[in-house]
Amino acid sequence: MAADGLTIEQEVAGLRDELRHHEYLYYGLDAPELTDAQYDALMNRLKALEAEHPELTTADSPTQRVGGKPADGFQKVAHSRPMLSLDNAYNQEELRAWDARVRGSLPAGDPVRYTCELKLDGLSLALHYGPGRNGASLVRGLTRGDGSIGEDVTSNVRTIRSIPLFIPAGKLKTAGLPQRFEVRGECVMPQAAFAKLNQEREAAGQAPAANPRNAAAGTIRTLEPNIVAQRRLDFYAYFLLESEAGAMLLDSQAAALATLGQLGMRVNPQVATVDSIEGVWDFIQRSEPLRDTLSYEIDGIVIKVDAAQQQRRLGFTGKAPRWAIAYKFAARAGVTRLNGVLFQVGRTGKVTPVADLQPVFISGTTVSRATLHNADEMARLGVRIGDSVSVERGGDVIPKITGVAARGPDSIEIVFPTDCPVCGTALIKEPGEVDWRCVNASCPARIREELIHFGARGVMNIEGLGEAMVAQLLGQTLEEASEEDGSPRTVRQPLVRSIADLYELTKEQLLALDRVGDKTAQALLDEIERSKQAGLARVLLGLGIRFVGERTAGLLAARFGGIHALMDASEEELIQVNEVGTKVAEAIREFFAEARNRELVRRLEASGVVMTAEKRVTTTVLEGLTFVLTGTLPTLTREQAKEKIEAAGGKVSGSVSKKTSYVVAGDEAGSKLEKAEQLGVKVLDEAGLLGLLGAD
Ligand code: IVH
Repeated sequence: MAADGLTIEQEVAGLRDELRHHEYLYYGLDAPELTDAQYDALMNRLKALEAEHPELTTADSPTQRVGGKPADGFQKVAHSRPMLSLDNAYNQEELRAWDARVRGSLPAGDPVRYTCELKLDGLSLALHYGPGRNGASLVRGLTRGDGSIGEDVTSNVRTIRSIPLFIPAGKLKTAGLPQRFEVRGECVMPQAAFAKLNQEREAAGQAPAANPRNAAAGTIRTLEPNIVAQRRLDFYAYFLLESEAGAMLLDSQAAALATLGQLGMRVNPQVATVDSIEGVWDFIQRSEPLRDTLSYEIDGIVIKVDAAQQQRRLGFTGKAPRWAIAYKFAARAGVTRLNGVLFQVGRTGKVTPVADLQPVFISGTTVSRATLHNADEMARLGVRIGDSVSVERGGDVIPKITGVAARGPDSIEIVFPTDCPVCGTALIKEPGEVDWRCVNASCPARIREELIHFGARGVMNIEGLGEAMVAQLLGQTLEEASEEDGSPRTVRQPLVRSIADLYELTKEQLLALDRVGDKTAQALLDEIERSKQAGLARVLLGLGIRFVGERTAGLLAARFGGIHALMDASEEELIQVNEVGTKVAEAIREFFAEARNRELVRRLEASGVVMTAEKRVTTTVLEGLTFVLTGTLPTLTREQAKEKIEAAGGKVSGSVSKKTSYVVAGDEAGSKLEKAEQLGVKVLDEAGLLGLLGAD
């Protein structure tokens, strides 16, 4: 019996309505009414009921956002109508010229209203809704692709919380919509999610994504919905279409936005409908400063003729509608003097030229450093020290130099070093790569970065092992002249030359450092001691193996259970781990092939650093087998069945092919079962699956 004398079905339906409502308040309106804990409690209750009554689980339940991954990559699907781009205007004059063209193509004296929206810097998506029980369900999400044909990224789109999986009949009725319609809008990665992603990428030794747009586009094409769900993409709706070619559903863009809001879609609140191009210009002036305050990137304003009837009259050119235009903001740029170039050595030894600039104020921020990327880029720009250079703060994380504004009178050529600026080892460039690297694994610059990474929050979490402490441990403090003996400066011997040395530090050694008293020394030693228990996943992350980020480290730890099993794993065994491909497997093999790294592991282990993890893969009875799940199973939910299969070493895929080992079919299995029969793939029921797993 469910709570409050309701039937189970009623409680499940009620919980779903409630969760959808709160998702809308939270993700759609940014106005939550529940605490996270209250929301989780509702969600957990629904999950529990669905687990007990799998027959009640539906694909559009709020519990079902993260599902299986698309097995054979993304399918190409034709758009209902082309997804066009927009013509651009870069100044007020171009905007007025467009206004004149619009008015010139409409009956003389026809009043024209414009709806102005922010131009979000992301990627456009088309969402198809179709008939579901008592409403409309999200059936498909497509990328723009080439405009005519997009990619089916439904499994990833489902993980975006601001996209409703289901819209109840009541809302459709209020909005006057049929059960089948299409929504288009922009998918963006908020700045905070972007910053977090780049931290993780850097921790894994991967190049950071250049800007949130690239990161969002890369994420939506990731084959692992779990990862997409963690990246916190967002979606803002700006178009409502009928899926069958035909008239627009509503008679104006302003009404379409209002309706999208009623449906529970997230609609950007920064909009205005105005009745002249002056009104448009006002909106632009008011919106541009928002650029520095919004939690996502915008690169302009989109202006749309509001009336659907006028839109139809104006029609399209080959690639863009005549009834809309994008006003592009000027790049946030400035001109300043290049005072010098610093060559930074990263954790992997990569040497990056960084421009040291005369500080310049660019839209709210003082910029004094900008990247010059690499030697090729420096040569391409032709910059010299002493030049006036143009600096841009785009959507990119790090400002960049875009060119020489004026040659300085006594400018000097920048010479890329041939030796590491820190340790003097000759720099090496691999064929086909653009970066010069210091290959000395003991280079103090590299060790410094390794130590900072190792102690970082989310890695080994050693509080007190910040930049200043690391510098001291490396002996990089230069003491001021001591008054007593008058000796000039002393350069200290490094206390630490490798991560393993951290675990051999003594209190006496620490007390000899500047500004380190008994309390600080003891606190650091305690933290180091505590870090020994962090577990294999954290240690793997801390070792800084290329491409091994938090998630991969976790998966590897769970699969191998101990460092030795991992060190000895073959490439084939590594690739068996979800999300590990040949590139990652090779990086792991290379890392452990180096004697220095094996020695590091040996020393860490000898110091008592825990190098094991709870092995989550308990059996491997399904190793090498691929399963497809279809229909409703009598006792297990899809997720539970998937977990069991994966825990036993099997893989679960979304579509049936000749490579499928088994199709597990429950009630109301559809086309997948038919396909299995056509291809002669073996079919199991739930009992059959449990039999394979060795359970009763
Ligand atoms: S309307 C017919 N509205 O900008 C094309 N686009 O440069 C209609 N974009 O591909 C697009 N914010 O990805 C529209 N409020 C907005 C937008 C927007 C961002 C993007 C969209 C489009 C690109 C065109």
